[in-house]
Amino acid sequence: MIKGKKISAVIVAAGKGTRMKCDQPKQYICIDEKPVLYYTLKAFEQSNVDHIVIVVSEDYFEYVQSEIMGRYSFEKSYEVVIGGDERYESVYQGLLKTEDCDYVLVHDGARPYIEVDVINGVIEEVIRSNAVVVGVKAKDTIKIVDENRTVVSTPERSYVWQIQTPQAFEYRLLKNAYDKVIEQKITHITDDAMVVESATNHPIKVYEGTYRNIKITTPEDLRYDFFQQYLI
Ligand code: CTP
Ligand code: MG
Repeated sequence: MIKGKKISAVIVAAGKGTRMKCDQPKQYICIDEKPVLYYTLKAFEQSNVDHIVIVVSEDYFEYVQSEIMGRYSFEKSYEVVIGGDERYESVYQGLLKTEDCDYVLVHDGARPYIEVDVINGVIEEVIRSNAVVVGVKAKDTIKIVDENRTVVSTPERSYVWQIQTPQAFEYRLLKNAYDKVIEQKITHITDDAMVVESATNHPIKVYEGTYRNIKITTPEDLRYDFFQQYLI
């Protein structure tokens, strides 16, 4: 509890990891003998979050219970639930299990490099502003490109941020926005902030995170630390 508020986290790990082209979903690939999801959970275990809901696919429900939760010692209160076919459906399942909290953080299970300080900073910020996403300043110039691969425009780089997770919201704000988006069958939702943006006018803050908080997505992402040895 921070300032008498209950903080829950929904860790979504029910994806198939198609772009990784590996036998198992990327969140279960081992780095130094421990699965990616273990590192993600460890960071939340060490944070100021009170309760954690892990959303997994039906196929891996037993595995997560026995091989991750059962094998490593985690002390916070945990719950493992089954997700859906799309990320937003998995988040929604997590939200149904966190009804009793004041604030909820949603985080990708495939982002194991998240720092505890960033999680705690996001918690402080969500208590102040009710809606916050983690992001980093874009290093590259970003261009909007049309379907013929022709440049349409170039947003000024100082206004361009790459958005990551965690994304945190006052619980009712996020749950009501999700209810609305699901009821209206709004599609092309790629993050939780978009749900709040499409359903409300509530301002969303950006909390400056770090570049190491990558989402493991394609094979080269597993070589992240490995890149360094090629530097000359
Ligand atoms: N996720 C989820 N439920 C889904 C889809 C995604 O819980 N139906 C989770 C993933 O497990 C991941 C996070 O959402 O932790 C971000 O999604 P993404 O990187 O797209 O993962 P996948 O959908 O697994 O990968 P891909 O799109 O390559 O298939
Ligand atoms: Mg996906």
